[in-house]
Amino acid sequence: MAEVLRAPKGLDGVAVADTKIAISDESGTLIYRGYSIKDLFERSTFEESTYLILYGRLPNKNELAEFESKLKRYSLVPSNVWDLVRTLPHESHQMDVLRTAVSGLGATEGGISSEEQELSIIAQMPALVANCYRINKGMELAEPDASLSLPANYLYMLTGKKPTTFEAWCFERMLILYLEHDLNASAFTVRVVGSTLADIYSACTAGLAALKGPLHGGANEAAMQMLLKVGTASNAKAYVQATIAKGEKIMGFGHRVYKTVDPRSQLTKKLLRDLLEKRGKGMELYKLCEAVESAAWEQKKLPANVDFYAAPLFMTLGIPIETFTPIFASSRTVGWVAHYNEQISDNRIYRPDAIYIGEKGLRYIPIDRR
Ligand code: COA
Repeated sequence: MAEVLRAPKGLDGVAVADTKIAISDESGTLIYRGYSIKDLFERSTFEESTYLILYGRLPNKNELAEFESKLKRYSLVPSNVWDLVRTLPHESHQMDVLRTAVSGLGATEGGISSEEQELSIIAQMPALVANCYRINKGMELAEPDASLSLPANYLYMLTGKKPTTFEAWCFERMLILYLEHDLNASAFTVRVVGSTLADIYSACTAGLAALKGPLHGGANEAAMQMLLKVGTASNAKAYVQATIAKGEKIMGFGHRVYKTVDPRSQLTKKLLRDLLEKRGKGMELYKLCEAVESAAWEQKKLPANVDFYAAPLFMTLGIPIETFTPIFASSRTVGWVAHYNEQISDNRIYRPDAIYIGEKGLRYIPIDRR
């Protein structure tokens, strides 16, 4: 038998693919297709950054306009997907509902090209996230407002209120920050499924399953629950101490790559402060977040990750907590599509080895003699 290399637990430090999509590193850098996240956060739009991630370069004016109109054209969700969602229990987790809806979409949208399939999933995600929640809570489907930008309309469908320009801008920044993050657990999952040559719907359904976990995308919802539990800044130190003492995780903290700073969390932190300052109320929430952040750093050198500040920002925008992780998923679908295509453009099926440490040579005993 050929010699087998043993990879470290969690594949820490092991490169399993070449990529041109994005790279993050320990110094707190994140780059999409060569552009720094800070630059895109400050200057780009959701559609433009989506184009960049999918096609590898920034679009010119005509290309962007055509891309935006394609996204509009493909944004209508087939009605049988809503019928499927209506069969699910009201208490279902929103990531389970969204995962089922995307899987249902895959069973519906045959006969269109693979590019159309990919754009359809991306374009339908805002309506899927908003309406899976609304149907599940017994509400009518949201009426989209075609006069609004894609992010503003998305926020409108989530909250039922027309956002201000600044609120829509903040939400769009979060969509940009969540677009892509190199070979995280869900992107790897998508690449593994893609490597079998299964379709993009199957790969994204699997990506959604991986993202649901609280160690991955589920952390933004969990961070919000944690902040609500801590309650005030004065409780932060004791909460962090007790959580670490119990060997439990502080949600929205720590990262495989970023050991001192996650650039996305710092950008989001500023966004939260600006939003609360503009409102002229709610600064206690910001102070609570800062207190938890300082305690986690002082006590275990854990930096806040993107999900920690995303949670209070979403809450301040009036978004239901149950949809926090689905929103992350809707944006990350763009990264998944790029990874899927990169994988199949130079494919070999993923089929690692495992070192067998179980028993051998046991003799079968009939059931009535066990
Ligand atoms: N709370 C408490 N302790 C944490 C922690 C957290 N959020 N994150 C990491 N640690 C601890 C680990 O348990 C480990 O402790 P040990 O050395 O005493 O065993 C140490 O810090 C180093 O962990 P590390 O190797 O950096 O973590 P990882 O790469 O295996 O896991 C995460 C990375 C993201 C899964 C992990 O940090 C985590 O669970 N965070 C909370 C969930 C979260 O916010 N996820 C979203 C990520 S964007």
